[in-house]
Amino acid sequence: MSARVVVIAGGLSPERDVSIRSGRRVAEDLRDAGFEAEVRDVDATLLPDLIADPPACAFPLVHGVAGEDGSLQEALQSIGLAFVGSGAHACRRSFDKAIAGALLADAGIAVPESIALPQSMFRDLGAPVLLAAITDQLGFPLVVKPNRGGSALGVSVVREAEELPAAMVAAFAYGEVVLIQRFIEGTEVAVAITENDDGCHAMPVVEIVADSGLYDYSARYTAGTTEFFTPARLTDEVLAAAAATAIQAHGVLGLRDWSRSDLMVDEAGTVWFLEVNVAPGMTETSLVPQAIAASPTDVTSVLADLVARATSRTPRES
Ligand SMILES: Nc1ncnc2c1ncn2[C@@H]1O[C@H](COP(=O)(O)OP(=O)(O)O)[C@@H](O)[C@H]1O
Ligand SMILES: [Mg+2]
Repeated sequence: MSARVVVIAGGLSPERDVSIRSGRRVAEDLRDAGFEAEVRDVDATLLPDLIADPPACAFPLVHGVAGEDGSLQEALQSIGLAFVGSGAHACRRSFDKAIAGALLADAGIAVPESIALPQSMFRDLGAPVLLAAITDQLGFPLVVKPNRGGSALGVSVVREAEELPAAMVAAFAYGEVVLIQRFIEGTEVAVAITENDDGCHAMPVVEIVADSGLYDYSARYTAGTTEFFTPARLTDEVLAAAAATAIQAHGVLGLRDWSRSDLMVDEAGTVWFLEVNVAPGMTETSLVPQAIAASPTDVTSVLADLVARATSRTPRES
């Protein structure tokens, strides 16, 4: 009988629909790879069912807070079920963009200068004076984003001071802490990493050219609004640097099995780290499927390798 994999998708984040699409697609591909696969949402029946009838492993594909901040992983670890992807601790430090950025900057990776502050600090110290101090330090243009978010929800580019308050409100709609970051002008790329027994491997670098300039929610999930080039139209040297950055980020953050780093490459060829995703999108228009399509392997063998790794380790490893 073939091994059974429970793909966990949905959840209650604003990225619920994207996650469901990712989950359905991965389940189909797992079936093509010879597994028995079902998609389950995060609800009160999930853990009892996983305990009563444990699958070979779970495949968490819930995007956003509960799926990528380590909470779901913590729950799976607590019931002793093996799962694909990073453990709870690594998810937690990666999902918080300020913490991940600080750890990677300490490791020598270029991370855009940023300031992370909770809404309460603006209330206590007074928003105008604090915003003036921040913009004095960082200058314009800036990117304002939720410190813990995804799918570019609540992300704005701010080119002048007048636009800043509205951008802050938009970001605070998604969480208590906002990250204000220097805008990097250049080429946006994403690099997917997979791990096998020989170590980490970077997939072909995907270049993203959004019509609007910002790879925002509609640019991501509306077909035809964004152009992709795989491999990215960069020199071999810069492609290698982007791959090396994603591999280093995966290692420094203690990630496992797979991840996708979002990067910017400036005119000088410097590779800047934006963020890393522990449960990357797997929809038709998502970046990892595009990277796999441009690689010598195919999605069924990538997924089969991920499942094989998950099922071969002690479930509570984190
Ligand atoms: N510092 C930056 N400079 C330029 N563009 C940025 C910067 N930060 C974010 N962006 C743009 O905003 C998008 C979303 O930001 P990202 O940090 O990847 O957060 P999310 O978790 O929402 O994907 C990126 O895909 C990119 O287009
Ligand atoms: Mg991103």
